[in-house]
Amino acid sequence: MNDRREFLKLSVAGTAALVTGCTPRSTKEEIPGVMDRDPMTTGGAIVISTWAHGMTANAKAWSVLDQGGSVLDAVEHGVRVVESDFGNRSVGLGGTPDRDGFVTLDACIQDHDGRAGAVAFLQRFENPISVARAVMERTPHVMLVGIGAERWAIENGFDRKEIEIPEVRKAWQEWLVESEYRPVVNIENHDTIGMVAMDANGRMAGSCTTSGMGYKIHGRVGDSPIIGAGLFVDGDVGAACATGVGELVIRTAGSHTVVELMRQGVEPVDACRETVLRILKKNPELEEMQVGFLALRKDGAHGAWAIYEGFDRAVRTEQGEELVPSGFERTWVRGR
Ligand code: GLY
Repeated sequence: MNDRREFLKLSVAGTAALVTGCTPRSTKEEIPGVMDRDPMTTGGAIVISTWAHGMTANAKAWSVLDQGGSVLDAVEHGVRVVESDFGNRSVGLGGTPDRDGFVTLDACIQDHDGRAGAVAFLQRFENPISVARAVMERTPHVMLVGIGAERWAIENGFDRKEIEIPEVRKAWQEWLVESEYRPVVNIENHDTIGMVAMDANGRMAGSCTTSGMGYKIHGRVGDSPIIGAGLFVDGDVGAACATGVGELVIRTAGSHTVVELMRQGVEPVDACRETVLRILKKNPELEEMQVGFLALRKDGAHGAWAIYEGFDRAVRTEQGEELVPSGFERTWVRGR
């Protein structure tokens, strides 16, 4: 077992120089993402996940690799930890419900060679990522949704799980009074765990799972289960995943765009930023909606970028674990 180094939260260099609004910064040297230009290319295994909840997911994924599991096992079992944390309001059955009070779950998984499985609009299953993997491995299809996915999951040995969380129900009932959908940057929108990983032999895989946007319309599916949007893996190039407002990510085929930019030689951080800038260009009126991408290239270099500040990625390597702040286009004043 590897020694785990003390958790290190890096400070954001140069935050004083940040500007508000979506005006791209004039030089790359002024921006926090510059730290990504010194990538942790250790040549060993690496696991990267979205947000602080990625730290516990990474720890599990790392232990799977450490014990000889495959990188696909690692990304599945890593994110399962977050799905099974019923205190998490954006992933798994503890998630915020839709406007009709139902928690509906989306997930996908993809391996080094592009094989993929996904489920969407799945209710009452604790670990949708494992159902997604089973879809990949046991069916000729990529995605199953809704009642069909649930029926198939039961037939294939997955148990239903019913949970009721009083505080979640109370919050939904309070929301019903106004019934106004209003995303909140980095709160309602940090709605996904995406994980990309590479083992010591250079094999890659990724996973992505979420309860989606809080108080969404019943039936809405976001980017997280959509290969190319919430996640894309091509072991010849690298992997990327997304978090934030799924509609914006889907319209840009976000994770696929990031990987294709890396294929053309663009650095991981720049590939993420270019994809964020495309979203902003197409949506100049966009306010208070977060999207973040993270990318892992096949040599271990990685980077991330977001519309708003506050998007962190959890990184685990032989050197230890870190929560690394991403570059961003806009500052955010909490509570405004
Ligand atoms: N990014 C997750 C969602 O929009 O559902």
